[in-house]
Amino acid sequence: MASQTLTIRKPDDWHVHLRDGEMLIRVAPYTARQFGRAIVMPNLAPPVTSVEVAREYRKRIMAATVPGFTPLMTCYLTDQTNPEEIARGHGEGVWIAAKLYPAGATTNSASGVTDIRNIYPTLARMEQTGMVLCVHGEVTDPDVDVFDREKVFIERTLSRLVRDFPALKIVLEHITTAEAAEFVQQGGVNIAATVTPQHLVINRNALFKGGLRPHAYCLPVAKREEHRLAVRRFATSGASNVFLGTDSAPHSREAKESACGCAGIFNAPYALESYAAVFEEEDALDRFEAFASINGARFYGLPLNDETITLERMATHVPETIDGLVPFQAGEALPWSLLT
Ligand code: DOR
Ligand code: ZN
Repeated sequence: MASQTLTIRKPDDWHVHLRDGEMLIRVAPYTARQFGRAIVMPNLAPPVTSVEVAREYRKRIMAATVPGFTPLMTCYLTDQTNPEEIARGHGEGVWIAAKLYPAGATTNSASGVTDIRNIYPTLARMEQTGMVLCVHGEVTDPDVDVFDREKVFIERTLSRLVRDFPALKIVLEHITTAEAAEFVQQGGVNIAATVTPQHLVINRNALFKGGLRPHAYCLPVAKREEHRLAVRRFATSGASNVFLGTDSAPHSREAKESACGCAGIFNAPYALESYAAVFEEEDALDRFEAFASINGARFYGLPLNDETITLERMATHVPETIDGLVPFQAGEALPWSLLT
């Protein structure tokens, strides 16, 4: 008989949007319930670009969550980023990573980087100090089809970054394509990928199932089935350079269900249940702990969590709404439940 419980080291979320103000208070507890640590994205309005702003934001996150949950802060890179500010924030233990948003690629990315060469001095400094670069890997060229933007980013930008900064640690985040899986798989020890629940579970058909489905819309957008399968194979392969990053990105229901709906899927409440279902379907539950709780910490050079969590084989019924937000897989049943 298949095992009824699954106990693993406490997982971490290596990519999440916790927002700020009232939304932070609403959503952060869900992440803190599932994860020991989380890398917090800096795309607030205005973005988190200075050490002091990051320190203050970290305090607000800690006030909104339980003791024992550790937010790991990131710096939003712009054309004006000062390499010394980056090095100082890293040295003072505020920043774990810096985030590259190509300008215009996604939510609150208007102040992002317009030309990768503008941050070359910063990347050189990060390479020296061992600070990780997190990458939203999509080109913004309007001539490139939206479904090809990740693939073209790898061809035009990422291949060059890897060549010019061979010792820089890079995380290609929320991968969605066979090309990204392949690139990271073959990329050596300094490149890794994170994978979201949604990109393991849905393909682009979900965006149009019986009508336009704003709650299935995030960036990078879900791709064809063949890509989902390639990302699944890589995520569940046991490779040490692929790990959990939910990219949970809540927006109010009104902002999602609109003529110009915001990109982002709120998956934090049941992220582990979603991932566990995928690993079981792929007959890879024995590799779940490495993906969720080990590979990320090792890549970032952090200690592993000492605590454990247990999932029980008992259905989780995902509600239609949670605190007024529509969660990923709303209305569906998942086979595992996180015990608390
Ligand atoms: O879907 C997304 N939502 N992708 C991103 O890159 C940003 C995020 C957000 O902040 O809403
Ligand atoms: Zn994100």
